[in-house]
Amino acid sequence: MLCLGIETSCDETAVALVEDGRKIRSNLILSQIERHQKFGGVVPELAARCHLEVISQLVAEALRQPGVLPREVDLVAATYGPGLIGGLLVGLSMAKALSLAWQVPFVGVNHVEGHIYANFLAHPELEPPLVCLTVSGGHTQLIYMAEHGTYELLGQTRDDAAGEAFDKVARVLGLGYPGGPFIDRLAQTGQPNLTLVQHDALAGTYDFSFSGIKTAVVNLVHHLRQKGEAVPVADLAASFQRQVVTVLADRVFRAVEAKKVKTLAVSGGVAANSQLRSFFSAEAARRGIQFFAPPPVLCTDNAGMIAACGYFRYLKKGASSLALPAAPRLRLD
Ligand code: KG4
Ligand code: ZN
Repeated sequence: MLCLGIETSCDETAVALVEDGRKIRSNLILSQIERHQKFGGVVPELAARCHLEVISQLVAEALRQPGVLPREVDLVAATYGPGLIGGLLVGLSMAKALSLAWQVPFVGVNHVEGHIYANFLAHPELEPPLVCLTVSGGHTQLIYMAEHGTYELLGQTRDDAAGEAFDKVARVLGLGYPGGPFIDRLAQTGQPNLTLVQHDALAGTYDFSFSGIKTAVVNLVHHLRQKGEAVPVADLAASFQRQVVTVLADRVFRAVEAKKVKTLAVSGGVAANSQLRSFFSAEAARRGIQFFAPPPVLCTDNAGMIAACGYFRYLKKGASSLALPAAPRLRLD
């Protein structure tokens, strides 16, 4: 079964073609980052307009590259939330129009559920039950997936998303946007020798809070600059990153234990972080648990994961209505 997936919830316009929920036939991603960079973040109206400019060409190209004809597509899936309303409407309207024109079913996909499915694309042998940590610029969610389509939200962030914290710390350190990859690289040259927050106020829960550690970095940098002292940028990046990875690992491995699962997956942009991957992988091996992470290109927003998720959702729950509205604050259930 061939599923065309569309993702337009933030600042990537992406279209992909996936076979049987596991095999990528094409996976196109057009990032708008340069258009938003001068504003220091994503401008929703601009994002929607950019999606509209390129979506038709991307759909055509996603079919042309693998040499697939429209009549060979069996299913169309698009992200319907959570995300920015203008962008969601562009992808959703396109998917509904294609469903009508090609006379194939349409499935609406939850973006966060989509991120989990990046792992199913990358690892053909992966099956639930599993615990998945989704960490991106917009989300930090710890999820127990009992089977396809069945989720229990164990914990989430009380304030900033993990990626948001990376981006803000990068900004105060004078690095580029988005900040995650810059901090990742810089941390490799620094020492994680600075204690940024003394205690973990949410210890024992499955929830996260990143605003304290972010503020600690901001305050320290301002303090040093005021005194005219050098800012140890690499050590700060390394210390910040280590503390974030430590908190994530604490929640994740307790959840793995409580749910008695043998499979752990991570997804979302921050799952591309090299220290997170190496730490999680070593800790999982030590505990005899299988650890899965998508390759970096499938960690960040893409439509392959939306097509994969759409396929499994269709098998389980059938098609969505063409009246399905965009849902900017959609929750996972
Ligand atoms: O999944 P994604 O593309 O978009 C959302 O759905 O939010 O995630 C983007 C986020 C950004 O905050 C970016 O800084 C972060 O993922 N990110 C990283 C790395 N690569 C991307 N964070 C830490 N380390 C990385 N290597
Ligand atoms: Zn995302």
